[in-house]
Amino acid sequence: MRKFDINDKVGDIVSIYPEAAEIFIAYNIDFCCGGNRTLEVAAQEKDVDVIEVLEEVNKKYEAFIERKQSYEDYTKYSCKDLIDYIINTHHKYLWEEMPILSKFTQRILAAHGDKHPELLTKVKTLYEDLRKELEAHLRKEEDIVFPLIKTYVEAKDGKAKNDMLKEIRSLKDEHEAAGNILKELRKVTNDYEFPSDVCTTFVMTYKKLKEMERDIFLHIHLENNILFNRYEE
Ligand SMILES: [Fe+2]
Ligand SMILES: [Fe+2]
Repeated sequence: MRKFDINDKVGDIVSIYPEAAEIFIAYNIDFCCGGNRTLEVAAQEKDVDVIEVLEEVNKKYEAFIERKQSYEDYTKYSCKDLIDYIINTHHKYLWEEMPILSKFTQRILAAHGDKHPELLTKVKTLYEDLRKELEAHLRKEEDIVFPLIKTYVEAKDGKAKNDMLKEIRSLKDEHEAAGNILKELRKVTNDYEFPSDVCTTFVMTYKKLKEMERDIFLHIHLENNILFNRYEE
């Protein structure tokens, strides 16, 4: 077993050892849009002790190997299977969950907006920006770019490749934009720490927002670091 070191790219670490995603999320280390950076650089950006994170990753990775635990190795998926998997899990989740979270963010604004006007207006606005961005993004992937990638993989023609690479670049920019809104949401909500005087709906809303953030990170990781990476290199 090869241990990871600080020069490994964070996206590669998660591709090889998917549970590392949870460790990086806990340290607030970006492994999806910023998956191309080394662990050293990524940790530095968050003022995190790189050796501490590395030791945790390697310790858990070692235990994981010892358990011989089976896990889904997405790097081995064919292009078609990976795309289908992304659509059937992450896209499906977002299509279902986004309208629900619109209702939740609206409900807490109505119920607690008088006590926390600035915070809840910002949460609502940022969330709706995120939803708008993601809806257009998911449609573009499902209707245009994913079919283009499948066509290229089947036919391998150069013209399709150029179109595909251009679209991939713009999708990656959109990932970055969504990631920035998520960062902003974390900032205004103080890492989703809710005020003490709130109701269950408020707690649920923050919990759901956090879950959505996690799902988006895993989703972007599969696209940027595994799927798109195959054609860009
Ligand atoms: Fe996607
Ligand atoms: Fe995407």
